[in-house]
Amino acid sequence: MELFDQNTKMTDLVHSNYLLLPVINRFGIRLGFHGKSIADICEEKGININFFLAIINAFHNHEYFPENELQSFSSNLIVDYLRKSHSDFNIVSLPKIEILLNKLVDSSSSNDLKVIQSFYKKYKKELQDHILDEEENAFPYVLELQRTFDLKIDPLPEKVLKYSIQSFEKEHTNVDEKLFDLKNLIIKYLEPNYDDIACNVFLFELFQFERDLQDHARIEDKILVPKVMGIENEIKNG
Ligand SMILES: [Fe+2]
Ligand SMILES: [Fe+2]
Repeated sequence: MELFDQNTKMTDLVHSNYLLLPVINRFGIRLGFHGKSIADICEEKGININFFLAIINAFHNHEYFPENELQSFSSNLIVDYLRKSHSDFNIVSLPKIEILLNKLVDSSSSNDLKVIQSFYKKYKKELQDHILDEEENAFPYVLELQRTFDLKIDPLPEKVLKYSIQSFEKEHTNVDEKLFDLKNLIIKYLEPNYDDIACNVFLFELFQFERDLQDHARIEDKILVPKVMGIENEIKNG
């Protein structure tokens, strides 16, 4: 199992997995590495190197998922990374997918692509609602809870007392399944009246987006939620 460590050259990291490019961008890392290693860049940019390594290795290798280590990082660090991913999804991935889908629709006269287009619109709305709910409810709650814990605030603020992470974090199954269905609609049922290149480019983008989203959901479900539940347990019951 290939794992990156602090001595890995940034250039080698990108050569071995170009899908990590948007992930490293979320840490404010941009190209032009010369001979610098991960440790050099993290030091230069003030990035927590252990968190960076855990995130990129978990993305790169799906068998590698250091749950305990990732849960040991502060909620602020985790939420900050998740927020940057949200903004990537909203500003980069979804608009890009839409442009590629429109190109595909324009390349064909078949009606099934219009069905796919309306299916995509519903999927996008559902995903954006999910993201907005996390941004407006779940994440502010998590940060408030972490602050309460760090500063040992007593008595507990009302918001902390009144809610729990489980009341905020929604399941990812629905949005995951819809994206799979979208891919499947195309792979299984598309009439052969379309442009090959436009279709492949669109599908490649969907597969890549799916991977990015699954990685994101895994951090929320397996890292953020259990970590927050641990803090809740400690300050509310302990
Ligand atoms: Fe999210
Ligand atoms: Fe989510």
